[in-house]
Amino acid sequence: MEYGPIPASRYDDVISHLRKSFPDEPLNASVGLSFYNQPCPLLEKYDLITLQEGLSVMALNTETGEIAGVALNGTCRKGDIEESLENMKTIDSVPYQRVFGLLNAVNKELDLFTRYNVDKIFDLRILSVDSKYRGKGLAKELFSRSELIAEEHGYKLMKVDATSLFTQRVCEVFGMETMKAIRYGDYKDENGKKMYPTKSPHDFYKVMVKKLPARKDND
Ligand code: ACO
Repeated sequence: MEYGPIPASRYDDVISHLRKSFPDEPLNASVGLSFYNQPCPLLEKYDLITLQEGLSVMALNTETGEIAGVALNGTCRKGDIEESLENMKTIDSVPYQRVFGLLNAVNKELDLFTRYNVDKIFDLRILSVDSKYRGKGLAKELFSRSELIAEEHGYKLMKVDATSLFTQRVCEVFGMETMKAIRYGDYKDENGKKMYPTKSPHDFYKVMVKKLPARKDND
């Protein structure tokens, strides 16, 4: 396996990879936001904007050139959550509203910018490994390389909206702290039906953060 940055020439391959792999993500799966091998324009627009920041990492099968996994990383700045909440008003999709309504509400309440006195946060947005390669430590390697990129670019705080137990495990291994834990089962609609019927063992969404060391070099 080889790890490295994602050139623009591979963006389409990343999207194809995500169409196969990301529908398994517990929160999306619980509301039916994306489906196996089908385009999901609302998510893919967001993925491409993130890729264009140039902070993402891929794992490549060196024999076949196939993308085995990705970490899509972007920057979250003060005011972005409010802007996203405003944009959501124009999007007529219940699954989208449910997923991003939850993520935005929790992040707005946490206000990590004030809490940590930072104006930008390194946001590991998407962690995805092809089902063929899962359970072999690829996510951990993608996380560790993302953290290095964050440090190299001078970010002081790294954040993950960890919607899957396995991602939470990865974050814990690398010393991330849980700022907020949300139990999916606590959210019910007006008829008392679960809004996020996630599959076991994915019972919580956790916002996890890590303070990053200041750069040591003199340049
Ligand atoms: N059962 C139990 N534990 C598991 C499993 C499993 N099926 N898969 C991974 N884990 C645990 C591992 O044991 C490991 O913990 P450990 O260090 O205590 O042993 C930890 O999770 C990470 O293991 P990796 O092998 O590095 O993870 P992997 O490469 O399999 O990728 C991932 C994990 C990315 C979550 C993958 O399952 C996936 O792509 N799922 C679908 C998409 C998804 O849910 N993405 C995360 C959403 S949150 C976000 O994107 C920020």
